[in-house]
Amino acid sequence: MDRPRVTLKLATSLDGRIATAAGESRWITGEAARAEVQNLRAAHDAVMIGAGTARADDPSLLARTEPPPAKQPARVVVTNRLDIPLEGKLYARLEHSPLIVFGRERASPARVAILDAMGVQVEAAPALGEGVDLGAVLSRLGARGVKSVLVEGGGVLAAGLIATGLVDRLEWFRAPILLGAEGRPAVAALALGKLSQAPAFRRVAFQALGPDLWESYERG
Ligand SMILES: NC(=O)c1ccc[n+]([C@@H]2O[C@H](COP(=O)([O-])OP(=O)(O)OC[C@H]3O[C@@H](n4cnc5c(N)ncnc54)[C@H](OP(=O)(O)O)[C@@H]3O)[C@@H](O)[C@H]2O)c1
Repeated sequence: MDRPRVTLKLATSLDGRIATAAGESRWITGEAARAEVQNLRAAHDAVMIGAGTARADDPSLLARTEPPPAKQPARVVVTNRLDIPLEGKLYARLEHSPLIVFGRERASPARVAILDAMGVQVEAAPALGEGVDLGAVLSRLGARGVKSVLVEGGGVLAAGLIATGLVDRLEWFRAPILLGAEGRPAVAALALGKLSQAPAFRRVAFQALGPDLWESYERG
């Protein structure tokens, strides 16, 4: 396999929502679940998000474990338009954890130059449908020596990876709250025609983490 193994982490309400309609997501799950997410970050070569999450959450994507990991994961953002904030926690500690931004081929050269000057590694990926070809993104990461990727959302990136069969494992942290249909879905539209087309996973582990439930699934 020339692409890294992909684990999708989801921190949701019982009804599978990752944020309120207004985009508030901190914090849906409790402390113990969030500590396990830090361990997952530390155990992966790279952590990946969609640009919507970069814009909404100002995440660092660094692993905050005690002790800190010997090596921080690389940070990867996927975007069509290279429209990510030009300041914030993503830019912290670039010398220990590179920030790699995959945008569409022929994205604004001016934007590429700005990000480049800030120490961001900008990569052009081929278009596929409405976005970039996520298989190509993963192959490029594989060529850089990345063997494992933890995807931390949001729903659009998650759906893109699931729809193209690129998710190998789910780590699902479920909090005992309900956010309703107006909440942001953990997985955006998959355009399924039939139930038989639903991507299937097999549960391999589950445990309680304080008030939350942690379920692990492998691709079925
Ligand atoms: N509870 C949790 O664990 C959790 C985790 C993450 C996020 N969230 C929440 O989720 C919300 C953000 O999620 P979201 O629905 O906006 O989804 P998202 O996937 O974070 O962002 C969507 C954007 O990402 C880029 N993108 C995704 N897939 C792409 C592809 N294949 N090709 C090119 N670009 C792609 C596009 O960026 P451009 O618009 O730049 O082209 C797209 O508009 C926030 O409210 C955040 O707080 C919650």
